[in-house]
Amino acid sequence: MDKKQIYEGKAKVLFEGPEEGQIIQYFKDDATAFNKQKFDVIEGKGVLNNIISAYMMEFFSKNGIENHFIERLNKREQLVKKVEIVPVEVVLRNYAAGTLVKRYGLEDGIKLSRPLIEFCYKSDEHGDPLLSEEHILIFNFATQDEIDMMKKTTLIINQILGDLFDKIGIILGDFKVEFGRVTENGSTRLILADEMSPDNCRLWDKETLEIMDKDRFRKGLGSLTEFYREVAVRLGLEKELEE
Ligand code: TMP
Ligand code: ASP
Repeated sequence: MDKKQIYEGKAKVLFEGPEEGQIIQYFKDDATAFNKQKFDVIEGKGVLNNIISAYMMEFFSKNGIENHFIERLNKREQLVKKVEIVPVEVVLRNYAAGTLVKRYGLEDGIKLSRPLIEFCYKSDEHGDPLLSEEHILIFNFATQDEIDMMKKTTLIINQILGDLFDKIGIILGDFKVEFGRVTENGSTRLILADEMSPDNCRLWDKETLEIMDKDRFRKGLGSLTEFYREVAVRLGLEKELEE
């Protein structure tokens, strides 16, 4: 089937879906970090992220968090609802790591007194700068109701995802989510979109504190797919990995 490409991002390509209002997300093996300063192709990463993200989105749906996921089509593709992405990346941090350490000089790995939510402008060109709620409102990126919805939903995601990972011996250090608008029957609402995989969260083994996420690539530690696979296995996805 010849699919019409709509958009190519750093880790995914979006194609027109079979029906109006649907798109196909194709997960690439490309890995980038630090706003594309670092780039590599890591064989098998896309397949793992497609499987893990499909599982996560279904898990969120079961827990009452509406999202764009419809079904996984094959090893690298999933069918999702077409949304108008809000150009705001919502980051939730339980521990200090990454740019939080760089920006404020906090000690790497310390637990924060409570979950910290940050907003960043989804713009590679501008290096994803931090946004205040005032920026979001004045630039018309989202309404106050939408900001409130994104914060509330992100806190719930943190709770249920943190519990899920805790049960399989993994600490959820931080994560990033994105939201998009869908219009159905004349009304528009905001739902969770994009993906949820070890590419957009920090995961540490509870016992050994071994890094199990994209920091393996950012820090040049190697064995990235070995650890993504371990995350998938602990989530009970062996069967999906064998396909
Ligand atoms: P940071 O420490 O680099 O700001 O990242 C915080 C979390 O957000 C981390 O889990 C990685 C994730 N993230 C993305 O998924 N995409 C991005 O573009 C950035 C900057 C971070
Ligand atoms: N995803 C961003 C990039 O590719 C930042 C990151 O994940 O480190 O540059």
